[in-house]
Amino acid sequence: MPRQHPEFPNLVVFDHPLIQHKVTLMRDRATSGQTFRALLIQIAGLMTFEVTRSFSTEFVMVETPLERAKGSRVAEKITICPVLRAGLAMAEGILELIPEARVGHLGMFRDEKTLKPVQYLLRLPKDLDAGPVVLVDPMLATGGSASEAIRMLREHGARDIRMICLVAAPEGVRRMLRDHPDLTIYAAALDRELNANGFILPGLGDAGDRLYGTGA
Ligand code: PRP
Repeated sequence: MPRQHPEFPNLVVFDHPLIQHKVTLMRDRATSGQTFRALLIQIAGLMTFEVTRSFSTEFVMVETPLERAKGSRVAEKITICPVLRAGLAMAEGILELIPEARVGHLGMFRDEKTLKPVQYLLRLPKDLDAGPVVLVDPMLATGGSASEAIRMLREHGARDIRMICLVAAPEGVRRMLRDHPDLTIYAAALDRELNANGFILPGLGDAGDRLYGTGA
């Protein structure tokens, strides 16, 4: 079971050996973009198992080849909202487990000088209030992007939101606690700090660039 972080009531960190193993591979600068992407997809899938535990289910009957049996199915419409670009690979991993989920796209990048999020795309299902919404972005650095994303999702009707990230910085978790105290963040690692350029230390570099080969 992942554990709630002792210092941050809004943070759950996954201490599962497989997840920690894969995060370590992702941190390695020698890991190729192809492997980096595959690992992120796998970790997102592993995290999904716990993150969806509280989803409500409904009773159904099913015809087995032998007889009628009691069963259950997820009751509500699930929406996965990746923050572009880096969130796309994580969303893929979740979709493998919840193929019926809808996907809402949030296009945002962080201005390199001001570190403020700049939005360039918003494409959401109309009935965001029809079920749980999972915001996904591998990096929670200053928390500016995540905070703005949650604000937008709420403005568009989302009521039941949780966030999955890979690596979180204490600064970002603190910011989220201030801006959205009721939101639970699930992360694979809580890193040490941000550097002067707003990069997570030790981190894993720029996830978007490593995923899509756009780095220097
Ligand atoms: C990164 C990351 C988050 C954001 C985190 O995106 O994927 O969206 O920065 O920073 P914050 O917590 O300080 O807001 P980036 O701007 O690199 O865009 P990209 O995914 O398109 O590369």
